[in-house]
Amino acid sequence: MVNLAMAVAVPLYIWPTTNAWKPLYNAISAAPNTTFNIIINPDSGPSNGASQPEIVSAVTTLRSYSNVQLFGYVHIEYANRSTDSIHNDIKTYSTWKKTAKSDIHLDGIFIDEAPYETKYLSYMKDIQTYIQKTMPKSHGKVWTNPGIPIDAKFYDYADYVNAYENSYADWNATGHNEIPECLRQKSTVMIYDFPKNAPGKLNSDTKNIIASGYNGTFITTSDGYEDFSSIWSQYVKDVANLTRTTKVKTLPSCKK
Ligand SMILES: *[C@@H]1O[C@H](CO)[C@@H](O)[C@H](O)[C@H]1NC(C)=O
Ligand SMILES: *[C@@H]1O[C@H](CO)[C@@H](O)[C@H](O)[C@H]1NC(C)=O
Ligand SMILES: *[C@@H]1O[C@H](CO)[C@@H](O)[C@H](O)[C@H]1NC(C)=O
Ligand SMILES: *[C@@H]1O[C@H](CO)[C@@H](O)[C@H](O)[C@H]1NC(C)=O
Ligand SMILES: *[C@@H]1O[C@H](CO)[C@@H](O)[C@H](O)[C@H]1NC(C)=O
Repeated sequence: MVNLAMAVAVPLYIWPTTNAWKPLYNAISAAPNTTFNIIINPDSGPSNGASQPEIVSAVTTLRSYSNVQLFGYVHIEYANRSTDSIHNDIKTYSTWKKTAKSDIHLDGIFIDEAPYETKYLSYMKDIQTYIQKTMPKSHGKVWTNPGIPIDAKFYDYADYVNAYENSYADWNATGHNEIPECLRQKSTVMIYDFPKNAPGKLNSDTKNIIASGYNGTFITTSDGYEDFSSIWSQYVKDVANLTRTTKVKTLPSCKK
């Protein structure tokens, strides 16, 4: 199920030792009407994740929820990584499948370190084409991460674009205003270093983000993604509750 309400984006860069993903399972089951778009990242890419029992078991648990979409992590070094290596990673993820005992199939690919200069438009188009022809049918969703606002033309080659990945201070000062309204419905944002012990602020900022029409968001008090921060479960509750009650701004379409 994918509904039209804002999703929770999850850069899940945590190895699934026993109980490590438990806060995520708990959040997903507590918020059945919220979509979780989760990035699976065994080792800066697929590595041999499909033959690691901990990965197989934890991803299979995630697959048991109907309100998740899973994306395999691939980094492209701002267009510097070799095409062969990029293709190999995508090909490897395309073999992750459902068997009698497990289900690790993915819904798409997350392309990290995406370039922003428009001279790389055709490069990004080629990556999208490769994902769509390599991943099993209807599992070729493309989520790119330039981490900053990019030219609207790049949005033609992605289903989702992560248009912000930086601190809350920067988000509050300028980040939010730099993402054009007409692109927000396909834009996700990842905000770190959110102030600790400020639940009221978390609630009002989450409400603003939902009202602004973004596609999916992640907010953490940590300075990276190595843990589920102290606000994780409150954040998910806020998203789940506020998407039911917050009016989303009517957004203009981009001028062609
Ligand atoms: C999910 O949505 C359904 C249908 O709108 C509603 O009946 C139900 O209460 C919602 N569940 C939660 C946990 O919000
Ligand atoms: C490629 O790498 C170089 C050095 O590592 C970096 O300066 C450059 O920005 C990268 N290319 C792009 C397109 O970002
Ligand atoms: C920035 O912080 C202030 C004070 O908490 C808040 O009112 C405002 O909505 C925030 N702006 C954004 C873009 O989150
Ligand atoms: C998020 O993007 C997807 C794919 O582009 C789209 O189907 C979905 O409706 C969007 N969600 C929102 C809340 O805009
Ligand atoms: C979410 O809504 C439910 C039902 O209205 C309420 O009981 C709960 O306290 C709310 N949670 C938060 C975090 O606001």
